[in-house]
Amino acid sequence: MRVHVADHPLITHKLTVLRDKTTPSPVFRALTEELVTLLAYEATRGVTVEEITIQTPVTETVGVKISEPRPLVVPILRAGLGMLEGMVKLLPTAEVGFLGMVRNEETLEPTTYAERLPDDLSDRQCFVLDPMLATGGSLAAAIDFLFQRGAMHVTAICLLAAPEGLERLEAETAGKDVTIVLGALDEKLDENGYIVPGLGDAGDRLYGVV
Ligand code: URA
Repeated sequence: MRVHVADHPLITHKLTVLRDKTTPSPVFRALTEELVTLLAYEATRGVTVEEITIQTPVTETVGVKISEPRPLVVPILRAGLGMLEGMVKLLPTAEVGFLGMVRNEETLEPTTYAERLPDDLSDRQCFVLDPMLATGGSLAAAIDFLFQRGAMHVTAICLLAAPEGLERLEAETAGKDVTIVLGALDEKLDENGYIVPGLGDAGDRLYGVV
């Protein structure tokens, strides 16, 4: 598993505003989108391309285009939905699948309550969107789901992660081609499974407590 922590003042600045508990939902949503676009630039560094020949106004030249089959973007509902627009802004030709996962607040273990994904993901590059890599349970389950359907490579984009979650993910995805791109690696998890210092419940801050 490769882990890439974005190290850029713009990302740290935007994350600081996200962390601030006084930041209202509309600003939180807009910033999440901007942050994901910045992280997506890094996350798509390995996207597969193929050479094409084109004609400029001056001459013929060889460039590249994103290969088929198209990459698949998979936001994990509900909070991952807040990351989708920022991702497809950079990768407009990607297909979008959905995985609905919720964690049991007592056991902290995830269950899948909705799924809309192609049956066969052979040769697909998949980009999972999940803002908070906390215990790692739901992300590990989502990644496993995609590999079981034949995915070739999975990249997860997260705004924040806790070391405990990364460790679990590393163990559960051993031997698989997985990349994690993070806005920041935080200090720890608290006793309720929240990332510290974190930003609170990402879904609630995006969409309200419903
Ligand atoms: N999910 C969140 O939204 N926030 C956390 O801190 C941990 C899990």
